[in-house]
Amino acid sequence: MNSLPWHPGSWRDMPIRQVPDYPDRDALAAMEGKIASFPPLVFAGEADRLTARLADAAEGRAFVLQGGDCAESFGDFRADSIRDTFRVLLQMAVVLTFGASLPVVKLGRMAGQFAKPRSSDVEKRGEAVLPSYRGDIVNGPEFSPAARVPDPSRMEFAYLQSAATLNLLRAFATGGYADLHEVHRWNQGFVARSPLAARYQDLAHRIDETLRFMAACGMSEAPQVRETEFYTSHEALLLPYEQALTREPSTHRGRFYACSAHFLWIGDRTRQPEGAHVEFLRGVANPLGLKVGPTTEAADLLALCERLNPSNVAGRLTLISRMGAEKVEEKLPALVRALAAEGRKVTWICDPMHGNTVAAGSYKTRSFDAILREVRGFFDVHQACNTWPGGVHIEMTGTDVTECLGGAHRLTEADLSRSYATACDPRLNAEQSLELAFLVAEELKNRRPGAPALPLQAAQ
Ligand code: PEP
Ligand code: CO
Repeated sequence: MNSLPWHPGSWRDMPIRQVPDYPDRDALAAMEGKIASFPPLVFAGEADRLTARLADAAEGRAFVLQGGDCAESFGDFRADSIRDTFRVLLQMAVVLTFGASLPVVKLGRMAGQFAKPRSSDVEKRGEAVLPSYRGDIVNGPEFSPAARVPDPSRMEFAYLQSAATLNLLRAFATGGYADLHEVHRWNQGFVARSPLAARYQDLAHRIDETLRFMAACGMSEAPQVRETEFYTSHEALLLPYEQALTREPSTHRGRFYACSAHFLWIGDRTRQPEGAHVEFLRGVANPLGLKVGPTTEAADLLALCERLNPSNVAGRLTLISRMGAEKVEEKLPALVRALAAEGRKVTWICDPMHGNTVAAGSYKTRSFDAILREVRGFFDVHQACNTWPGGVHIEMTGTDVTECLGGAHRLTEADLSRSYATACDPRLNAEQSLELAFLVAEELKNRRPGAPALPLQAAQ
């Protein structure tokens, strides 16, 4: 195995997959230089704190909620979209915290989730063949030759959109919006009109009561009541951009951080142990994710753990299982057991989205039932292996889209065309996301005897 010293550009000597074919290499180099001169988006201390939070999730003391768009887009760059997604993540986190009596680590697929791996380099429509859309940071989604040319100037807008999004998320997280006294107010918009609203309100009442009780007893309020910790994440796919934002902070000499987000993950298509993406990420000090799909071999996964986390630090590596509902119980146990046998410290979380994508006419979709089945299978595997199911990773949005089938409103294929807005994969809408949170909370509660009962009745 390659053991040459790491530096921020050492990935350039390794085989790489999923690279855009930039026609203007000089423009690419100039843009990398420009972004390298921009301020970092996150601070090293925040990334270290997230590592500590994820270590809790590795060891059964916390649960991770990672969610957001499959792909953020330049076209949907609005405060409302950011707020709606953030709000639903907060609602889900409250449901999970209450259900499991555990802290929930909130991690947005937000403020930088722009680059997409594709299963084919080209897209065919009739006789026309064009380069595939690789996310707004690379090229445009329109099916035209001009839009599909990879354009380095898009990196600059992605950086600026990430900075503005992160700024708003920080403001929401610490400026009063996420105050638990506001828990009722989060139940606005689409979810307020859904069958889940009453169930959520019931939970909100209980939280209110608890806060009032604590105040009446004269208990001082923890800062976590008034504000929340919220972290950002994305797939570290576009390495020229990631390298340009990699810094060795003066406060953390000798350690490099990828400063585009707190948490970066390696996708299922770019996880070759000797590949460029693994090479880049092994050298940055951020907490890392690794997608683990059904073709993952135990030997490769062990090699990846060694490469990405040689000191076996809890919280450094989160394995994001995305096997598919039909395969999770067949494929996951051998991997979980192989790592447990070696004493590997990892945070296992479940992405029940990417193994369950199906075609419905011209749409890609996913069924709520398959998503839930995969999460339950994931929980069952961990129960059988006596390991902790540390979290979920979902593609969702805070609005009323019709991209995934099923859920409380029983969306069908006929509904898909009504509001299908994703720039890439189908997302759970606000109501489906909240419903999933209630169901996951029930699973967690059942596995943690002593946790308080949730409002379980299906409200009408
Ligand atoms: C994704 O998370 O959007 C993605 C492409 O996932 P995966 O690498 O698991 O296919
Ligand atoms: Co996706």
